Amino acid sequence: MVSLNQFDEENFSELGIDTLAVRAGQVRSAEGEHSEALFLTSSYVFGSAQEAADRFSGAQPGNVYSRYTNPTVRMFEERIAALEGAEAAVATSSGMAAILSTCIALLQSGDHILCSRSVFGTTTVLLTKFLAKFGVSTTFINPTDYVAWESGFTAKTKLVFVETPSNPLSDIIDIQRLADITHKHNALLVVDNCFCTPALQRPLNFGADLIVHSATKYIDGQGRCLGGVVAGPKKYVDEVLGFIRSAGPSLSPFNAWIFLKGLETLRLRMEAHSRSALILAEWLNTHPAIEKVFYGGLLTHPNHALAAKQQSAFGGVLSFRVRGGREEAWSVIDATRIMSLTANLGDAKTTIVHPATTTHGRLTPEQKAEAGITENLIRVAVGLEDVVDLKADLERGLSQLKS
Ligand SMILES: Cc1ncc(COP(=O)(O)O)c(C=O)c1O
Repeated sequence: MVSLNQFDEENFSELGIDTLAVRAGQVRSAEGEHSEALFLTSSYVFGSAQEAADRFSGAQPGNVYSRYTNPTVRMFEERIAALEGAEAAVATSSGMAAILSTCIALLQSGDHILCSRSVFGTTTVLLTKFLAKFGVSTTFINPTDYVAWESGFTAKTKLVFVETPSNPLSDIIDIQRLADITHKHNALLVVDNCFCTPALQRPLNFGADLIVHSATKYIDGQGRCLGGVVAGPKKYVDEVLGFIRSAGPSLSPFNAWIFLKGLETLRLRMEAHSRSALILAEWLNTHPAIEKVFYGGLLTHPNHALAAKQQSAFGGVLSFRVRGGREEAWSVIDATRIMSLTANLGDAKTTIVHPATTTHGRLTPEQKAEAGITENLIRVAVGLEDVVDLKADLERGLSQLKS
């Protein structure tokens, strides 16, 4: 007889990524539903007082309360773990909650973080403004300077945090090389895999210890829900889960259900985003109104070969500096009619944003300068529209600039 729940953890490794994206983690209820069920319930009932006591004490496995576990969230966690090639995963209410929960669970006062200076602006704010209040210090490192990484370690460095490709400048970090350096110093390498997703890059294969995601982005794929996830060895994921249970940044089951549906088309979407982004990047790279384009897929990108080795495609996010300053950048953004002026990315709808005054607006001028967030920088997260229309949308503003 074919089991209702077809895939056991043991045979995940034998299955292709597309099969995992559609099938992994699904647990069917006694109703035999074909599509994943949405368990919108905050708590669970017990058959007897003894059973309640056993569930609460952990003597009997099973659901207690949806801040701890929920069957729909569980399916999402299992699917992400399978896709990332991780032993375990735990979902969170947002990408920032995934980063916060990882830090709080694995660090203590006095510990030190080494962080790439090319990370999402809010990650920088979280580390410098909030974790610092609790005695966790952070040093920011030029992401592709491995001598600087090596010399940044102190006896207290417990965690190294990077994004690759980075937001918004598409720095590509050699994960294997950084993992080797990190492990020599007995620290953990955490990779924010938001821009590639496991469809294009699996950092655990290159020696990373933990993956964090903003599921809000490509995992959803249609800009509907906030969510996050942490994946890696069970011993670390259990620590993060312990914090989430106590602190409450748990993922809503509704959002998990949306993400499960998003994952089914993840690779197809990532390849389409990447195809269009490359076409736009190559076109912008020769445009007279453009000073510089940042995209790992360009042959002119300093780490193109590394990107091609680590990633199966180059992703949907590119950024570029127009000739001029803020005024010129804003004029290009304001001239678009198809692209959405919004900070989110990973959506079927192309988004355009001015990082210096939005996503990275809370950075100090020094932090912006160090991270390369200049006033003439524009980020585009290429969606699934016709690429000729996207080109025309950008050209409307670019053609008005002096070359
Ligand atoms: C690379 C990266 N990591 C983390 C986050 C934070 O995710 P969330 O908005 O889901 O909290 C973002 C959000 O834009 C991001 O771009």
